[in-house]
Amino acid sequence: MESNRREFIRQTAFTSAGIGLVSIIPSHVWASDPAPSDQINVALVGCRNMGFGDLSQSLSFKEVNCVALCDVDETVLNEKAAEVRTKFNQTPKLYKDFRKMLEQKDIDAVFIGTPDHWHCLITVACLEAGKDVYVEKPMANSIEECNIMVRASQKHKQIVQVGQQQRSGFIFKKAMELIKTGKIGTLRKVNMWANFEYGVGSLIVPDSAVPEGLDYEMWLGPAPERPFNKNRLHGSWRHFWDYGGGLASDWGVHLVDMGLWAKDITTAPEKVLTYAANTFPEKRARETFDTMTICYPKSDFVINYDLTAGLQRGPWDMTYGIAFIGDHATIVTDRSKLTVYPEYDNKTKKLKAEEYKFTEGKESHNEHVRNFLDCIKSRQTPVCPPEIGRAAAMHVHIANIAGRVNEPVLIWDDAKNRFTNSEAANKLITPQYRKPWTLPKY
Ligand SMILES: NC(=O)c1ccc[n+]([C@@H]2O[C@H](COP(=O)([O-])OP(=O)(O)OC[C@H]3O[C@@H](n4cnc5c(N)ncnc54)[C@H](O)[C@@H]3O)[C@@H](O)[C@H]2O)c1
Repeated sequence: MESNRREFIRQTAFTSAGIGLVSIIPSHVWASDPAPSDQINVALVGCRNMGFGDLSQSLSFKEVNCVALCDVDETVLNEKAAEVRTKFNQTPKLYKDFRKMLEQKDIDAVFIGTPDHWHCLITVACLEAGKDVYVEKPMANSIEECNIMVRASQKHKQIVQVGQQQRSGFIFKKAMELIKTGKIGTLRKVNMWANFEYGVGSLIVPDSAVPEGLDYEMWLGPAPERPFNKNRLHGSWRHFWDYGGGLASDWGVHLVDMGLWAKDITTAPEKVLTYAANTFPEKRARETFDTMTICYPKSDFVINYDLTAGLQRGPWDMTYGIAFIGDHATIVTDRSKLTVYPEYDNKTKKLKAEEYKFTEGKESHNEHVRNFLDCIKSRQTPVCPPEIGRAAAMHVHIANIAGRVNEPVLIWDDAKNRFTNSEAANKLITPQYRKPWTLPKY
C-alpha cells in the first residue's frame, strides 16, 4: 500500500499542474501541519558528516519524516540514530546494508552521504527501487560512473538532486544576476581558488585492525581490497584515488560549477590544461595532488582553478573564492559575501560599473534541500540535476586524470566518450569494480 501513498503524492502533483494551478506551494509557508499525503519519508545512507547535515536540513521542514538510516559503521549509525531521536523526535529503522534498506516500502527519497566511490551504485539502486535521490557531490568518482548516473536518472524519471548547494545560494544567484544582466560588462575570465590545510592529508599512521562495529568490506564495496588504515577511512578517504579526488574534486566541483553556470554550460570540457604536483614539504597520507593549476579554455572566456593545499590564505585574502572578471568590473565572492570592484574609465573619469556589496547570512544548504523536497512534490527538475553534476565532475576528473598520467593537455571527445590524445588517460575513464560489485549497465 505504501507505493500507492507515493503514487498519490506524484499524481497530486501532476494533477495540479494539469488543471493549471500555479505549481505546488512551498510547504514551509503552510500555516498548519501538512496533510498525510504531503508527508515525505526520507532515508539516509552514509550518516557521519555531510549526509547527516543534509538529513537534518530536511527534518527542519514539517512534512519530512526520517524513516530509515543506513551506515556500515555501527558506532556512527547508533550515534546518529540517537541524535535523530533527541533532536527530531523520530525513530528510524536502522540498516548496515542499503540493499536491505531499499526493501522498506515507505521510503520516498534517499539522501546519499557516503564517500564518492559509492555514489553511482547506491544512486542507481535507489532509482531502480523507485526512490528520489539527493546525492552528495562530486556526483561520482569517475567519468563513466557520472555517465551511468545521467542515463539511469533519465530512464527511471525519478528526481535527482546533486549536492552542489551553491546553485541554491543567494550570493551566487546574485552573482549570476549581475553577470547575466551585463552589470560587469563582458565576462572574460573566472578565476577560482581553494587552499585549505586539510587538503594535505593526515600524518601517516601504520595499518591496524578493523575497528569493532565497522563492516570494512562493505565500506570498501567496489573499491580494491586494502589492509585497514584509519587514514583511508572517515573523512580522509578524500585523499585516495580509490574513493575520492582530493581537493581538486572536493572543492573543485563547487567552484567550477559557478564558472559553468555563469555561461550556462552543462557539458563536459573539450580541452583541459593541467599542472599537478605534490610539493607540500612533509610526507602525508595522501595520493591526490596538493598543488594544481587548471585551465579550462571555453569559446569566449576562460575558467582557471588554482589550489594549494596546506595554505590557509589566498587571493583577495580569502582561503577559497571566485573572481568573475568582466570588462567593467570584477565580482569577488565566497559563500557568505560578494563584492563588485568596478573598473575606472580614464576618459570619462567615472567608474564603469556600480560599487556593490552583498552579504546574506542565510544558509544555501537549507535552500538546496528545500528545492529537492519541492521537486519531489512537483516532479519538476531540481536546480542541480545529474547533467549539471556530471558537467562539474567531468571538469575536475579530467584534470586529475591529466595529473595522474602526466599529460598537461587533454582533449576530450564527449560524443565518443574518449580522450583523443592519450591512451593512458582513456584507461582511467572507467573504474574496475571489485567483485561481487559490477558497474550498473545503462
Ligand atoms: N556539499 C558539500 O558541501 C559537502 C561537504 C562535505 C562532504 N560532502 C560530500 O559528502 C559525502 C560524504 O562526505 P563526508 O565528509 O560526510 O564523509 P564521511 O567519511 O565523514 O562519512 C561517510 C559515511 O558513509 C558511511 N559509509 C561508507 N560506505 C557506506 C555504505 N556502503 N553504506 C552506508 N554507509 C556507508 C561511512 O561509514 C561514514 O559514516 C562525500 O561525497 C563528500 O564529497 C559534500
